[in-house]
Amino acid sequence: MSQLLDLIQSRRSDRHFSQQSVSNQDIKDLLEAFRWAPSCNNRQPWRVVLARSASAQEAFDAALSEGNRPWAPAASLKMIILGVPEEQPEKNGQQSYLLDVGFAMQNMMLQGYAMGLTIHAMAGFDANKIRDAFDIPASAQPVALMVAGYRGVVEQLPEAVRVKDLKPRTRKNLEEFSFANRYGEKDGF
Ligand SMILES: Cc1cc2nc3c(=O)[nH]c(=O)nc-3n(C[C@H](O)[C@H](O)[C@H](O)COP(=O)(O)O)c2cc1C
Repeated sequence: MSQLLDLIQSRRSDRHFSQQSVSNQDIKDLLEAFRWAPSCNNRQPWRVVLARSASAQEAFDAALSEGNRPWAPAASLKMIILGVPEEQPEKNGQQSYLLDVGFAMQNMMLQGYAMGLTIHAMAGFDANKIRDAFDIPASAQPVALMVAGYRGVVEQLPEAVRVKDLKPRTRKNLEEFSFANRYGEKDGF
């Protein structure tokens, strides 16, 4: 179990990729990890569109935000992650489909990291461009883009991206988010 914690702690969203492509078997393994995520009532309200062809990859890159465009196009594997809200209708004000899709994404990120890949989720993209270019039906909601590949050379990134990539990873301390008995009450950690 501590091995799993090590993996969780060391996974990181790198921005540097080599040109090595991800094999179809590896892509299948990533999708397999994605597919086994838990979801409310096991409804699995997710879809994934892979940008495989040169024109699909170009359309994918064109939908990236300015912040993501300097680095994400170099990744060999480009994925559009979609949620289908009608397969997981809102209940008690909860948009569970987003949670379900998030679990699946995290499964894929951990599996990818264990396979030696780096996978980076992105909210920085134009959903309308993705809808148009990839024929996404109105029933499906683009939730995130994900890129994956083998690590490249961080020193070759443009300066502004390199700075982001080399920034130490941080997290809130336990006492900042974990309480006992009532919200805000410190636990013994
Ligand atoms: C839903 C989601 C959207 C994200 N969007 C972007 C993005 O558009 N651009 C980017 O550079 N990183 C993006 N990230 C990566 C986060 O910045 C990163 O996960 C966070 O800084 C923690 O770093 P770590 O993943 O290396 O632990 C996103 C992550 C998630 C989960």
